[in-house]
Amino acid sequence: MKFRPYNEDCITGARRIKAESIDCMICDSPFGIGEDKLDAVYNRKSKHVIKGYVTAPVDYYDFSYRWLKEAYRILKPTGTLYAVSGTTNLDHMIKAAKNCGFKVLNQIVWHYNFGVYTEKKFVASHYVILRLAKCKYPTFYRECRFKAHEHDDAGLSLLYRDLQDVWIIKKEFSRGKTKNPNKLPDELVKKMIQYATKEGDTVCDFFMGNFTTAYVARGLNRKVIGFELNKEAFDYHVPRLKMLKAGYMLNQDRKKDQKKDEDQLKAA
Ligand SMILES: C[S@@+](CC[C@H](N)C(=O)[O-])C[C@H]1O[C@@H](n2cnc3c(N)ncnc32)[C@H](O)[C@@H]1O
Repeated sequence: MKFRPYNEDCITGARRIKAESIDCMICDSPFGIGEDKLDAVYNRKSKHVIKGYVTAPVDYYDFSYRWLKEAYRILKPTGTLYAVSGTTNLDHMIKAAKNCGFKVLNQIVWHYNFGVYTEKKFVASHYVILRLAKCKYPTFYRECRFKAHEHDDAGLSLLYRDLQDVWIIKKEFSRGKTKNPNKLPDELVKKMIQYATKEGDTVCDFFMGNFTTAYVARGLNRKVIGFELNKEAFDYHVPRLKMLKAGYMLNQDRKKDQKKDEDQLKAA
């Protein structure tokens, strides 16, 4: 299964990609809050953090508009773009997406554990994931994770709960592990990919960071293309990814995997 990573700026690099060729995009752009300097806030030891995280330019609207415009060009007419955003620049992101021609189909709330402590306002404990598309009904594999007849022990529909637009998924503990700041949980990325693609489809990530999209998409036997400006992160992850067999997650015990998904739902 093809894996095409580029250590380049996504906006210029995307010109390599053919128009309307991508099934799904997961883009977790820098948030424009100086997150490269927030190790203490996020309770992580800087010796484990890969150096070289590239933050957003000052004009966040302009930056968002420029990468979203390229994303619009390469996305298939029935494709899905998930854009992850904090709350600080969410309005810029939505405005830029609409001005590029995207429809905002969902504003998924990803609620995570251990929010950022604040003295004078409520604790920030969610991100927004904009589900964007060119049309009103992009590809949506509604029963890719749970079937309509599946219920939990209390008789509640697992499918219905999974389809709600609040996703409660824990951030991963990676104590002592090497990481780029702001890794998305594998579970979160897996859910996004499953609802929008099937095996063999192409997933693109403009801001690969810890390459979570690449690990999960490759694990689910999807083709992967993406960009990361940070050479240290790129050189750390790309060789590791190339050693992994495409589809390695599909061969894991599906029952165990489903149990994990169900446990996440029950915790909700
Ligand atoms: C929030 S992180 C992505 C984290 C990723 N989703 C994960 O789970 O690990 C954003 C990443 O975008 C990279 N970046 C910033 N500007 C970029 C650009 N113009 N092109 C490509 N990568 C960029 C940063 O270096 C950073 O690693």
